[in-house]
Amino acid sequence: MPTRIAVPPMPPAPARAAISLPVVFVVFGATGDLTRRKLMPALYNLAAGGHLPEEFAVLGCARRGWGKTEFAACMREGVNEFSRTPLAATAWNWFEPRLEFVTGDFNEAATYSRLGAALEELDRAHGTAGNRLFYLAVPPDEVEPILIGLRAAGLISPPNGPAFTRVILEKPFGLSLDTARALNALVGSVLDESQTFRIDHYLGKETVQNIMVFRFANSIFEPLWNRKYVDHVQITAAETVGVGSRGKFYESTGVMRDIVQNHLLEVLALCAMEPPNSGLADDVRGEKLQVLKALRRPWADTVPNDVVVGQYAGYRAEPNVSPASVAPTFAALRVYIDNWRWQGVPFYLRAGKRLAKRVTEVSFHMQPIPLSLFGSGDICERVEPNVITLRLQPEEGIQLPFSAKLPGHDFTVVPAAMDMSYAEAFGAEPPEAYERLLLDAMRGDATLFSRRDAVEASWAWIQPILDWFADEARPRPIPYEPGTWGPAEADAFIRRDRREWHAR
Ligand code: BG6
Repeated sequence: MPTRIAVPPMPPAPARAAISLPVVFVVFGATGDLTRRKLMPALYNLAAGGHLPEEFAVLGCARRGWGKTEFAACMREGVNEFSRTPLAATAWNWFEPRLEFVTGDFNEAATYSRLGAALEELDRAHGTAGNRLFYLAVPPDEVEPILIGLRAAGLISPPNGPAFTRVILEKPFGLSLDTARALNALVGSVLDESQTFRIDHYLGKETVQNIMVFRFANSIFEPLWNRKYVDHVQITAAETVGVGSRGKFYESTGVMRDIVQNHLLEVLALCAMEPPNSGLADDVRGEKLQVLKALRRPWADTVPNDVVVGQYAGYRAEPNVSPASVAPTFAALRVYIDNWRWQGVPFYLRAGKRLAKRVTEVSFHMQPIPLSLFGSGDICERVEPNVITLRLQPEEGIQLPFSAKLPGHDFTVVPAAMDMSYAEAFGAEPPEAYERLLLDAMRGDATLFSRRDAVEASWAWIQPILDWFADEARPRPIPYEPGTWGPAEADAFIRRDRREWHAR
């Protein structure tokens, strides 16, 4: 066990009231799981935290023949069950009168006329000034009818008008490079890019946002952040849960489209990008794009060496999963970034379901020291290269182990660690990713949302891998036992490079 050096708790930062603009938040797919589990609890917590203005309302839309009362009752249950903070009467009493519901089929023009009338009514009742934030919590095939319906009904204002219209789109943004391009073209024909908010909830996580602060608000790390000092980087997103009730969805995505193409590449881009000119949305997103464009393109002959896929035993028996499914639930990849800073430094990515432990982390493995000055061979071997670990979840924190002299008459070298825990340093539980992202969309800040060119660049990179595995002659995902770290081949894969997985 490394010796632990305590980091004193930091004083809390002064509270800043971030308040959204007046708006009606319109959610398509209002009776679905996402609305109940994530969106309403996030809005409720924003309300409870004083981040919403008086001029605010929520309009749910779905096929189910609900009225305002059923909608409010279901949302209350959702908040009660999933909210980060307990349901409190004062906040709920403020929130509930702002909920409204419209029943309708997304393919029928009449739905949009009813929505238009309801929106005008909400503007009159709550002073929301014609501002709209549409959230499309629907499967990808319903995006087109909704956007077309909104446009035909005149419910989308021009980008620079007195009132704003913004649309949040849920991932996955397409299922391939071609479908992502087609979706982006459709979205682009209805909305300006400044009105389009492609959500990747990983970017709303406190610890993911902190990657930028860690790198660019400290001068000690940036000089080391390159091929000269970094031996390799690992990014792991391990889950203990299986696909649960989402078998149908997962069959169409597998881990590559569900996690790697979006969450892992977003994290990789934040870790590897050049310092942006400013913290503004387009500067940050521009630098992230450069990383995605520099990813070395996988070729047919490199995929078998650089990618291992697995499937947990029992996946094929999950509800709505084919008994012959070849969807991977685990992937390990070796990725290179062909630019000046990172040339030759492998980035190992790993993601999977039903693994041994829930952990998401990034570790930067620094180069070993060139020469050990202390003692005999076995002591030298104990001088481990430094590893900077950003623990994204759970037990959020930052860890920097280093070697230290064991007090005594000999030069005995032992590992020690500087360990920062968010919980110990800042106390308060961080807001949920969706809270931050919904608030940003209401304020018009797109920094934490994916831009069209970046989405296409990440699909362009992953598509050859998807195509390689799509060929039936190619190896199928390797079975692994739930509760393990994936197939043994994933360990052999990194050991070939004389390295070991860090997250265990
Ligand atoms: C979602 C994926 O985007 O992220 C899920 O669709 C996955 O399959 C989830 O479980 C993981 O998110 P988190 O925030 O629980 O790490």
